[in-house]
Amino acid sequence: PVGAQQWVPPRPGSIEELKAAASGCQGCELYEHATQTVFGRGAEHARIVFVGEQPGDVEDQHGLPFVGPAGRLLREAVDDAGINPADLYITNAVKHFRFELRGKRRIHQTPGPAHIVACRPWVVAEFALLKPELVVLLGATAGKALLGPSFRVTQQRGRLLPWPASAQHPEDFPVAEIRALATIHPSAVLRADDRDTAYRGLVDDLKVAAAAVY
Ligand code: URA
Ligand code: SF4
Repeated sequence: PVGAQQWVPPRPGSIEELKAAASGCQGCELYEHATQTVFGRGAEHARIVFVGEQPGDVEDQHGLPFVGPAGRLLREAVDDAGINPADLYITNAVKHFRFELRGKRRIHQTPGPAHIVACRPWVVAEFALLKPELVVLLGATAGKALLGPSFRVTQQRGRLLPWPASAQHPEDFPVAEIRALATIHPSAVLRADDRDTAYRGLVDDLKVAAAAVY
């Protein structure tokens, strides 16, 4: 893939401007079969940015991130961790739905390393504009997008991490003040054999996030 960079406006004035530009992105082949680009949404002055994997089936149809079952669970966990939803902006590492057709069903497929790299300019542009205090990485895809392919959620979750050089915006801005925190993806809680334990683990990690900004 050629990557998203050529579609990213050099000095965007707002998330709306970025979102409009992303609607025409052809930085990798995922735009060909998905319904639409699903851009981030939330507070323009967000203190915390959450990064998921990619839109799911429901998000692809509605054009908004985390409006399906994973989103419901995430909102509950945010509430239980004491994070104010008004402080949040929520986006994804990859902005088109990747799926495999089985009959009429669209089965989620994890984005590959090439999709993650191709789409990264969008999430970096969102950080540059929002300048949040903390970025919460939900699961392996978000972790790899920001922290590189050696990221392992089991080893790096639940503690504050320094901002990686790979996530520097091409135009300079002071990202050194942003910190990162990784945790599991809400979908992993929905799939877990022991949902209660997995859910408590997610909330505990998000409490670390809350303590870092409040
Ligand atoms: N899972 C994600 O990672 N992102 C969404 O927007 C929905 C489900
Ligand atoms: Fe562009 Fe990202 Fe969509 Fe690929 S997944 S076409 S890079 S917005």
